[in-house]
Amino acid sequence: MNLSDPAVDISLFSLPIGKKDIFLNEKPLVLEIGFGEGEFLINAARSDGSRNYLGLEVKRGRFRKAVRTAEALSLQNLKFLHIEAEIALRQVFRERMFDLVLVNFPDPWPKKKHSKHRMFNQELISCLAKVLTGGGRTVIKTDQLSYIEQIVSEFERSGLFRSTYPPPGFIEAQAGETETKFEKHFREASQKIFSAGFLNLPSQTG
Ligand SMILES: C[S@@+](CC[C@H](N)C(=O)[O-])C[C@H]1O[C@@H](n2cnc3c(N)ncnc32)[C@H](O)[C@@H]1O
Repeated sequence: MNLSDPAVDISLFSLPIGKKDIFLNEKPLVLEIGFGEGEFLINAARSDGSRNYLGLEVKRGRFRKAVRTAEALSLQNLKFLHIEAEIALRQVFRERMFDLVLVNFPDPWPKKKHSKHRMFNQELISCLAKVLTGGGRTVIKTDQLSYIEQIVSEFERSGLFRSTYPPPGFIEAQAGETETKFEKHFREASQKIFSAGFLNLPSQTG
């Protein structure tokens, strides 16, 4: 595999793949689901060489744009996969390979009749528990109050994670961290941003 190519072709591997297959080292690994145009991961990988960063994005145009930007930077600690998160988490990754999973502004599907498309259901949460290390964390940001409330209740119901915040289980996120394209857009519109964090319970992962 060409280490400086940011796009990972999973057809070159036998599944499931581990972090050493992708990065050729065992540094702590951060996964971002739905990275959009990749600006968050690109900034993070540039400023933090101590960790590896992997992103999943289902939209080809966004994936390609992120790959083009990253190619110019030749970062060895940053890789992207063009794949649906549900498939990747269920079938592609080895257990306990991620230390942190970030989901910045998952598609909110605000209409009631579309809410079945929301990403955080019990199956996805149980896949997250498997691919995260015991004690690994998931951090989710959204501008939708009803969505963050639903996310907190799904994680609590799973019994696999503990919220890192006291009730109601989320906080209003302050500006200043590396912001994504959607976060910048919401902040410019003076919308509140909510953040929830969940710790993978070691006893559940053996
Ligand atoms: C609202 S955008 C947020 C993009 C970026 N994280 C940001 O904050 O700017 C949601 C992104 O998630 C991607 N996405 C939605 N469902 C996905 C899935 N099942 N697997 C991977 N990516 C997904 C979409 O294509 C889109 O780029």
